[in-house]
Amino acid sequence: MPTRKAAAGFAGCVCVMVAATLLLWGQLPGYGVGRPPTLEEIESWDVIVGPEGKELPPGEGAVMAGREVFSLRCAECHGSEGQGADKGDALVGGEGTLTGTRPLKTVGSYWPYATTIWDYVNRAMPFDRPGTLTHDQVYAVVAFLLYLNGIIGEEEVMNAANLPLVTMPNRNGFVPDPRPDLGEMDRAP
Ligand code: HEC
Repeated sequence: MPTRKAAAGFAGCVCVMVAATLLLWGQLPGYGVGRPPTLEEIESWDVIVGPEGKELPPGEGAVMAGREVFSLRCAECHGSEGQGADKGDALVGGEGTLTGTRPLKTVGSYWPYATTIWDYVNRAMPFDRPGTLTHDQVYAVVAFLLYLNGIIGEEEVMNAANLPLVTMPNRNGFVPDPRPDLGEMDRAP
């Protein structure tokens, strides 16, 4: 039957292609840099946290611990008290400026959820070495940022249960996009 023959021919062809690819792969030069990530590392990077914070991993961090993480890993770019510096934006202040002519968008004035700050810092910061903070360090440094912005107290310890409960000052500052060509999914903030 021609179809069976064709199928067999196709399968044979795929086999040869796979074998050739493996052969070539084996011959790629090694560059002597880096190492394969450990399973633990992959698991800790494989976290995406949405506004509701359901995906937040276990862990916790106190404001005090966050101050230390911040001074070691963030202050160089964002200033010792998050006021901003040459290499990084201000993370503090700016409340009430968003509707003015010179809006200052910071964690305190702009971000609508504490959970997504966790997500952003976990995945993107420190800018020059993203993904190197432990989950506890991320909780701690986010707690410190919330404290600097006057949103939580100095004694607070943040974790997966209480971070989603934080009401950010600009929580209701986002309005639905009125452009008619947008779908419902893109509309809701
Ligand atoms: C090497 C410099 C550098 C370091 C270190 C660094 N950041 Fe940043 N950070 C930046 C830059 C640059 C941006 C803007 C990135 C962009 O717009 O894509 C940024 C953006 C941010 C933002 C978003 C600001 C906003 O409102 O848009 C937050 C929050 C933040 N950083 C927190 C941190 C924390 C917490 C640390 C320490 C764990 C840290 N950063 C370390 C350079 C740095």
